[in-house]
Amino acid sequence: MSSPGTILVVTDRPDHGHSLKGAVERIADCRIVVTTQPWWLTGPVLGVIVNVKLSRPQSHACLTWLKQQLGPQPPPALFLTEDTTSAALREARAFGAAACLPVYTEPRVAVAALARLVYPHDTVTDLIVGRGVARAGRLLEDMFHTAEAGAVNIAAVEDALEPVLNAIQEGGLTRWLDVVWEHDDTTFQHCLLVAGLTTAFSQSLGLSRTDQHQMARGALVHDVGKAQIPLAILNKPGKLEADEMAVMRTHAALGYGILKSSGNCDPVALAVTRHHHEMLDGSGYPDRLSSDAIADPIRLLTICDIYAALIERRPYKAPYSSADAMRVLEGMGGKLEGALVQAFGKAVASPSGSPSRAVA
Ligand SMILES: [Fe+2]
Ligand SMILES: [Fe+2]
Repeated sequence: MSSPGTILVVTDRPDHGHSLKGAVERIADCRIVVTTQPWWLTGPVLGVIVNVKLSRPQSHACLTWLKQQLGPQPPPALFLTEDTTSAALREARAFGAAACLPVYTEPRVAVAALARLVYPHDTVTDLIVGRGVARAGRLLEDMFHTAEAGAVNIAAVEDALEPVLNAIQEGGLTRWLDVVWEHDDTTFQHCLLVAGLTTAFSQSLGLSRTDQHQMARGALVHDVGKAQIPLAILNKPGKLEADEMAVMRTHAALGYGILKSSGNCDPVALAVTRHHHEMLDGSGYPDRLSSDAIADPIRLLTICDIYAALIERRPYKAPYSSADAMRVLEGMGGKLEGALVQAFGKAVASPSGSPSRAVA
């Protein structure tokens, strides 16, 4: 599975470098190095894609500098070469190429070839799912840390959206959950679960990419108010007393306040954060909204949120199976929209969507 570090794309063609970067970022962080500009390594390098004309003097200078900086045990390097004669391939190998492909190779194919060298035991899908969970997990850690002081970096949330959407699209919910179960922090695990469920649900409903972003954004931030709940209540290894529950319930309005004071937050993310515990029959909190006052994105996320809480393992309860969790949702009558609960059931029951551990 992916480890911290960057894949370098060394290029003398910035336009092609950017399409390679887009493909690399599906599996790892990426940095573009342009041969004509000075650069230094700033952290661990997992692998290198070299996309330069070897005949150019600046390519030689750049690759010699690269070799020096990577040291005696360099990571695997894939060269994309225009010239496929044996002399050119020998030259590429002299600069450290572990493999060579023609320069016109599709970026995703080139990245898959490098991935086989860097992670011989993982499939590209494993890497995409691992990347999505890791990226979202990192965001949640940073976000909850700064939220304690009252604000979060809204722009950072945007960087996690595509990795989450790609992970669910490529790997399905089951693989997402398999990785998420390994997270030991209950709150982060819950937010990752809700993000995966919401994205899988949005994709099964055929929502546009923009709407999927909106839903994933809301899912990632929806419980940010828990950053201001005392840990003794948040992590209590047992059921909450009435007064503790009252404190816990403030997280929805607290989260809304945090996002509001962070500036420039999407209105849907604000709404789902404040209202994801509202019920259609008016029995929810914090504003006791009912029926039409609860917009579709909130209805959708609320279903995912309740289902996630049910299938989670907590010190005081065994995880519900997927079937039992669905029975609870279906039994909530006028609190949730029945048709949406049915659609959610189909989304999590599809072959790629069924949560493996909860079903077992
Ligand atoms: Fe919540
Ligand atoms: Fe939640």
